[in-house]
Amino acid sequence: MREVLKVESLSKVFFRKKGIFRKEPFYALRDVSFSLGEGEILGLVGESGSGKSTIAKIIVRLEKPTEGSVYLMGKEARSFGKEYTKYVSIVFQDPRTSLNPRMKVKDIISEPLEVHRVPNKEERVRDLLKKVHLSEELAQRKPEDLSGGQRQRVAIARALALNPKVVVADEPTASLDASVRVGILELFLNLKEDGISTLLITHDMRVIERVADRVGVLYGGRLFELGNKEEVLNSPMHPYTKFLLSSVPVKHPKDRKPVDLEEAPQSIPQKGCPFVPRCSEAKSECEYTLRRVRIDGRIVQCNLY
Ligand SMILES: Nc1ncnc2c1ncn2[C@@H]1O[C@H](COP(=O)(O)OP(=O)(O)OP(=O)(O)O)[C@@H](O)[C@H]1O
Ligand SMILES: [Mg+2]
Repeated sequence: MREVLKVESLSKVFFRKKGIFRKEPFYALRDVSFSLGEGEILGLVGESGSGKSTIAKIIVRLEKPTEGSVYLMGKEARSFGKEYTKYVSIVFQDPRTSLNPRMKVKDIISEPLEVHRVPNKEERVRDLLKKVHLSEELAQRKPEDLSGGQRQRVAIARALALNPKVVVADEPTASLDASVRVGILELFLNLKEDGISTLLITHDMRVIERVADRVGVLYGGRLFELGNKEEVLNSPMHPYTKFLLSSVPVKHPKDRKPVDLEEAPQSIPQKGCPFVPRCSEAKSECEYTLRRVRIDGRIVQCNLY
């Protein structure tokens, strides 16, 4: 599969206030690497605060990495000009805040076409509405006159307006009712036919099960496990992946053994493995070091391997 996007050794440090004058560094991401193939859906799963949105923002250039780089079609993201937004677009979690409430649907969708001076805007807007399964009559409405699912379809249409190579979707179904989630996820599956690659960010393993080709598991800013969906789901290697899967309903629960975990940590250690405070299999070396290995094509960051 042709590689479209590559994320190499990304680290992101934020400075947090400690007292009135002091600030301390906080690693939101540490040495995260993965790639995205043409037409592929890579699911990135992790709990709140694991660094998912930070990765999304770095990929769409809303944040700069402290270390590491993003490459689009082999070229560094930061070496592109404005045309980068043509190739890489984003869908946010909540369309109530990501769509301008004062604009009509047709203007929201055609805004990127305007920016990049694309001709035949009306025809393109019609095609895009069709692509996201919205009827043309909605074009004249404003976001407040749409359902949550319809709003998210508008956000997806806007993200597709310029025929991107990559769509980054940051929790695109988290704000929606379960009944409309599946329909939205189907849209991402349809993008594969057009060769569009999707980075699908979620905290919900069921979303991954339904649509992803590969899955990356993020925790405390570290990518713990990365591999084909079936392999990771059927035989998780990292203790944290095992824990995540033990909380997902499956057809054959006997196949998945829950892992005993302690309470969530108050703070994540900055050295070694961030999962140490919760890991029942932690060894003393995990306090200060974290190995990354490749096993049968899967990448695992864990000192057990
Ligand atoms: N601008 C910022 N300044 C300081 N800390 C930040 C900033 N942005 C994010 N963080 C911290 O970085 C960590 C990762 O945040 P991020 O938003 O990437 O997590 P997430 O996985 O998207 O979480 P959620 O599921 O809640 O959306 C969090 O601890 C967050 O508080
Ligand atoms: Mg987030």
